[in-house]
Amino acid sequence: MLGRAVRRIVYTKEQIAARVKELGEEITASYPDGELLVLGLLKGSFIFLSDLVRDIGRPLQVDFLVASSYGESTTSSGLVRLLYDPETQLEGKHILLVEDIVDTGRTLTRLMDLLQERRPQSLEICALLHKHIATELTYPTRFIGFDAPNEFLVGYGLDHAENFRHIPYIASLQ
Ligand code: IMP
Ligand code: MG
Repeated sequence: MLGRAVRRIVYTKEQIAARVKELGEEITASYPDGELLVLGLLKGSFIFLSDLVRDIGRPLQVDFLVASSYGESTTSSGLVRLLYDPETQLEGKHILLVEDIVDTGRTLTRLMDLLQERRPQSLEICALLHKHIATELTYPTRFIGFDAPNEFLVGYGLDHAENFRHIPYIASLQ
């Protein structure tokens, strides 16, 4: 049972593959030297990250982050809590934080604050989708896959109540 049906395909499998390849090339060119650690924010980034790293043509390491999420009506003024903290050392490395979609940017801002304290050589964000409505994001998003419409999107890792993550394209539920 898939629950709600998708309304419209926003990005096809082919469009995603082409754009992810370009992003990989952009990232490869942006890091000519140093150690690169690609940090995927779970769960939403898992498919994007696995495709992206195969399009990056330079040595890198992969690790993941699991952050606590806030409930629908909960506003938190505290720091985001890490439920899984990367085992890899961050100090002195180029850190590329990979996110599925930037919406309000709240989670990302708190995570970036926290990661910055670990003294990486550089710290950048790569988001597959960006709604450009992020009022709470105080960091720039260095690499963006698509400027997304302000609709609820699922597929290619993105979920609605944990469903739809496995769909190979990105669709709107609205
Ligand atoms: P933010 O902290 O408000 O930017 O929330 C970002 C997180 O909310 C993303 O990592 C997604 O897990 C989730 N999210 C935001 N917009 C969507 C959407 O359109 N579809 C699926 N998940 C979304
Ligand atoms: Mg989610």
